[in-house]
Amino acid sequence: MKLTDDILTALRERTAIDGTHLVLTGPRMDPKLYQRVNEVLEAVGGRWTTNEQAHVFPVDAAQALAPVLESGQVVTLREKRQSAQYFPTPSAVVQRLIDLAAIKPGMEVLEPSAGSGAIATAATTAGAVVDCIERDPGYAAVLTDTGVARTLTVADFLTVPAQPCYDRIVMNPPFTKGADMQHIEHALRFLKPDGLLVSVMSWAVTFQGRKTAKFRSLVEARGGTVEAVAGGAFKESGTDVDTVIVTIPASRPANAKPTTWPTREIPEQPETEFRNPMEILDELRDNVRDAMAEFDALADMLAQPLPKTDVVELPTAREEQLTFDLGEAS
Ligand SMILES: C[S@@+](CC[C@H](N)C(=O)[O-])C[C@H]1O[C@@H](n2cnc3c(N)ncnc32)[C@H](O)[C@@H]1O
Repeated sequence: MKLTDDILTALRERTAIDGTHLVLTGPRMDPKLYQRVNEVLEAVGGRWTTNEQAHVFPVDAAQALAPVLESGQVVTLREKRQSAQYFPTPSAVVQRLIDLAAIKPGMEVLEPSAGSGAIATAATTAGAVVDCIERDPGYAAVLTDTGVARTLTVADFLTVPAQPCYDRIVMNPPFTKGADMQHIEHALRFLKPDGLLVSVMSWAVTFQGRKTAKFRSLVEARGGTVEAVAGGAFKESGTDVDTVIVTIPASRPANAKPTTWPTREIPEQPETEFRNPMEILDELRDNVRDAMAEFDALADMLAQPLPKTDVVELPTAREEQLTFDLGEAS
């Protein structure tokens, strides 16, 4: 959203920032202007908090607002939801991730691209203690609202130094240009020696090629498993992307089987039934013939002289009314 001058002026001249807190100063703002200013603040992670009488950010408020003031643009939460890079994991897929992760109460779990918390919430419900990382302060703020995360780091996960302290990593990272492989490779460094990573990935990882070779070798070396996610599973999140779920142990289990990569023919399009043109023509001809026959019948009917009818004399409404009124009066 391109910011109008009144929003930019309000953000520049009517805000007082103290660390994570931002207060709107001066006389009460026109409600419509406030609504738009609030939308910008929410987009970069600010949340109006009544107790604090301020917009509270998960990071330094000035830092969160700086790119907006510089560019005069912001991607609102509404726009982000529509934009291609944010695909919250649908509940059926989340459930499968949680099942494959075999989360037990008390386990420590990392969600390193947590969005607004679809996976993190389910992991918490399963009894895990969940730490989240999310690059986007707007989603991070939504996640903060849910209260499911033990800790939430607003950062580019790929720059977060690894500490091998998690039992499970459950994730659905971005896919663009092989980002999913990059994110998973980094995430594996956060696992305890007996830990397990479960992630949604682009179907592209099933293709053998230069770009996937190193990652596929890593999965195979660790005795990982790969399963196809049903086509259309992400439709409700606004994408037709085909995906798989990859499970990778921190170290190869003794009983690991060789990794089998799912193969799928390009899903067959349901065959469009083309009808024989001559058949369609015949049907049209029949329809026209029927319509013409109905017109002829109508024309014949209209050509007939009108039947004679008996004329019945009806009392006028006025007389009837008078009679009625007099009757009532007597
Ligand atoms: C496909 S969405 C999944 C969101 C969430 N995991 C879920 O399942 O609903 C990917 C998320 O990764 C976040 N993201 C993208 N690049 C990131 C990065 N480098 N570090 C941390 N988060 C990132 C995006 O902002 C987005 O919220």
